[in-house]
Amino acid sequence: MNYILDNINAKSWDGNMVFLYGDESAERALPLNRKELEMIKARREEEKDFVEVFDRLPWRLYFVSFDSEREAADAQERLRCTAMKVLKMLTAKGDADVAVCAEGTLPEEVSAFVEGLTLADYSFDRYMSKPVHHLGTVTIDAMYLKQEELDASMRLWNRIFWCREWVNLPVADLNAPAFADELAAIAADLEGVTCTVMDKKQIESLRMGGLLAVNKGSVDEPRFVVLEYNGISSEFGTRSSEFPGAATMTPNSELRGVPSAQPTTPNSPICLVGKGIMYDTGGLNIKTGDYMCEMKSDMAGAATMASVLFAAADNKLPVHIVALLPLTDSRLNGNAYAPDDILTMYDGTTVEVNNTDAEGRLILADAIAYAAKNYNPSVIIDAATLTGAAVRAISTFGIAAMQQNADGPMTMLKLVGNQVYERLVEFPMWREYDEMVKGELADLRNSTRSPQAGTITAGKFLAHFAGKVPFVHLDIAGVAYFSKPQQYYRIGGSGYGIRLLYAFLQMQYK
Ligand code: BES
Ligand code: ZN
Ligand code: ZN
Repeated sequence: MNYILDNINAKSWDGNMVFLYGDESAERALPLNRKELEMIKARREEEKDFVEVFDRLPWRLYFVSFDSEREAADAQERLRCTAMKVLKMLTAKGDADVAVCAEGTLPEEVSAFVEGLTLADYSFDRYMSKPVHHLGTVTIDAMYLKQEELDASMRLWNRIFWCREWVNLPVADLNAPAFADELAAIAADLEGVTCTVMDKKQIESLRMGGLLAVNKGSVDEPRFVVLEYNGISSEFGTRSSEFPGAATMTPNSELRGVPSAQPTTPNSPICLVGKGIMYDTGGLNIKTGDYMCEMKSDMAGAATMASVLFAAADNKLPVHIVALLPLTDSRLNGNAYAPDDILTMYDGTTVEVNNTDAEGRLILADAIAYAAKNYNPSVIIDAATLTGAAVRAISTFGIAAMQQNADGPMTMLKLVGNQVYERLVEFPMWREYDEMVKGELADLRNSTRSPQAGTITAGKFLAHFAGKVPFVHLDIAGVAYFSKPQQYYRIGGSGYGIRLLYAFLQMQYK
């Protein structure tokens, strides 16, 4: 798929066309006859949001009616969702090339539609013998959009595609060493990005007891990948104005001018930690029934954080970020770690294992402690498919988030999250929960006695390892992988969180 910005005349255009219609101002450009127009208007009296297809000409007109009076973020999200409907119609008819006419719509509205169209066009089809129809050339008629903004957005969307592809790949085709190699290869081609891959020996010498324990039952070695992108070091450049490509089309202009709570400096990066369980069997506390299915997606946190860093580098954002990705699967052999094992983590904290299926927090603890000790972070943010309890609490409509000493970043994340519609809800971190993660025979336990507040106690466990460093925890268990189609996503990895964190990074300097 590729995009061209062009000034086209809808009435003389000779090809398939999507026409976005928010109000009467679009009427004069509309290539419909009087009868058709009356029909549309009558229908708009009943409902504002619908798609009507006209195919009386040699080409088809996909007429998209929407309500331009809704609150901005809601209107944009509805347009993204409508784009999925349109995409399905387009590809069902084999209409690969299409023009999008957006006369009389706001820039944010047409960008949202194009974003939805793009994200909807992704499918995991590399194993299909029959080819799947995709979009070809999309010509966008919206004078106020800039080509460089569209290009920057496309680079971001491409990173989202890559994230989704990694999440969708089965462990047989993407284990920890293979994923680390792939990340290193991408980093090697990106200006300003360095990649350090630590193998099992190095992880042993770092004494990362959590990552090593989870890996004990695996035939594949673990990896600990550290990606660093510095867009504000003196040799690289300084401010956003020097990077015309840095501004993507979303989030919209309303965000500009909101003060940044935690500006990054070259000496104090934002650390992004991602859970990289390439496959979660549960270990000796093995997942039963259908619960193991889809656990190839348990590395979505790592895929998300790598993708955010790469997107920032692609678009030369003036920020300094470090992504720390502990990678292993949690499979079983005769040497697998067992409940009752007591581990010594990277920072010296001891942890009793009560449940081998609470493995994510063990590998994340080492990575968070490593970030806190070695990088002087302005904030540590982790993304993890951490708890089934998060899905039970809020279903698949957002992220369960927690923070410690990070009120500012959390406020900003909520704000941009609502804008890009990758939303988060903050759960409490009251001190009373601390008791629940205290160990009998060691400092901490990895699974609580009571099943209550499972998402929060997991967050509490992680927060211990951040110490005094501002810390945000994003539990993406409900949104990283959709088991049925939702919004503009098919079944599978969504890349949910990338647009959120990218927008958060943009807020650091805007
Ligand atoms: N990877 C799972 C959490 C998960 C569940 C992600 C469903 C996506 C969908 C995690 O490692 C896990 O197994 N968590 C346990 C923790 C429990 C043993 C304390 C859970 O949520 O049941
Ligand atoms: Zn698990
Ligand atoms: Zn897991």
